[in-house]
Amino acid sequence: MAIQYLALTTLIVLYSLMFVGGYVSAAGLGLTCPDWPLCPGGLMPSDEYLIEWIHRLVAVTTGSLVIATMIASWINKSADKKIKFTSTFGAALVITQITLGALVIDLKLHAVLVAIHLGVGILLFAMVLLTALFAFRITRNTIQAKV
Ligand code: HEM
Repeated sequence: MAIQYLALTTLIVLYSLMFVGGYVSAAGLGLTCPDWPLCPGGLMPSDEYLIEWIHRLVAVTTGSLVIATMIASWINKSADKKIKFTSTFGAALVITQITLGALVIDLKLHAVLVAIHLGVGILLFAMVLLTALFAFRITRNTIQAKV
């Protein structure tokens, strides 16, 4: 997949994940799934864990997409330092964020950790947004160079 579409898909999936995270928090569902990494019932848990399970499933998908975008930016010959930085910082943040998610559960929704989880999520969104903008700029510059 071309880097700009990969970056855009990553941004959309991340936005959906943050939306689901906000719902988990506001609906008080944060501790419905007490185990880590899977909920009780394994890969196909029952309905009571559904929303939290979706949050984790989309988190793994987001993590894979963020790392794939970083790899794409490192192997793309037209990529500059800016996109390499934002995509690599984004990959570091997504790993931190998934680890934090586990800690949020382990420490029973400690307020400081939940606040850090939100803060890192916003920073991650900023990095993924910048990466997508830089990726579209690479494509535009490549097209202009050919004309
Ligand atoms: C890229 C990965 C992730 C992102 C971007 C993300 C983002 C978010 C966001 C934006 C919220 C709402 C926070 C708030 O409104 O205060 C949230 C809530 C939450 N997240 Fe994540 N999350 C990620 C991964 C995970 C993982 C792997 C887990 C662990 C199982 C997890 C567990 C939770 C829990 C339990 C809440 C609800 C906290 C509460 O009840 O207040 N998150 N997440």
